[in-house]
Amino acid sequence: MPRTVLTMAAIFALAACGDEESTPRKQRKPIFKDMLRQSEFIYGSVNGKDPFDPQKVAAAATALQQLAAQPWPLYAELQNPQADHANARIVQAPEEFRRKAAELQRQASALAAVTRSGNPELIRPAIGQLQQSCTSCHDQFRKRGN
Ligand code: HEC
Repeated sequence: MPRTVLTMAAIFALAACGDEESTPRKQRKPIFKDMLRQSEFIYGSVNGKDPFDPQKVAAAATALQQLAAQPWPLYAELQNPQADHANARIVQAPEEFRRKAAELQRQASALAAVTRSGNPELIRPAIGQLQQSCTSCHDQFRKRGN
């Protein structure tokens, strides 16, 4: 019966969707992608790739500051080393991971403050430092292809 087929399709769609929602790894992904997008926009704006619009840059920095706090509660292994899909590197050095997460948030606050100056000369080093704190954590904790 076509009705049954439709219902089954709906159930599978729901199941797939529910699965996606329930994985912390999948929940982190859009946050990280948005962080990358905002940081690249700021970097491009103060390095001649995009036109410098002080208001857009300040808005991106505010967004980045909010995003910088969001991935870390989604790492269950910080609470429980036995958590599903735990990242072994984080399990081995949770304090270092927390320190790097805090460092990112410090850099994001500093960047947001400096964007209020509207001065690209001041924003350039701040976005550089923020990007270094991304790389520093990735070098230690992000697995290849992850
Ligand atoms: C405290 C550690 C840490 C910091 C700081 C950090 N990341 Fe990550 N990032 C990770 C880990 C670990 C992964 C691997 C995927 C995961 O764990 O969800 C990752 C993955 C990513 C991904 C891939 C996401 C995906 O699932 O495809 C992007 C993009 C990314 N990070 C961007 C950034 C940007 C941009 C910054 C800085 C503004 C940043 N990250 C700062 C730890 C960090």
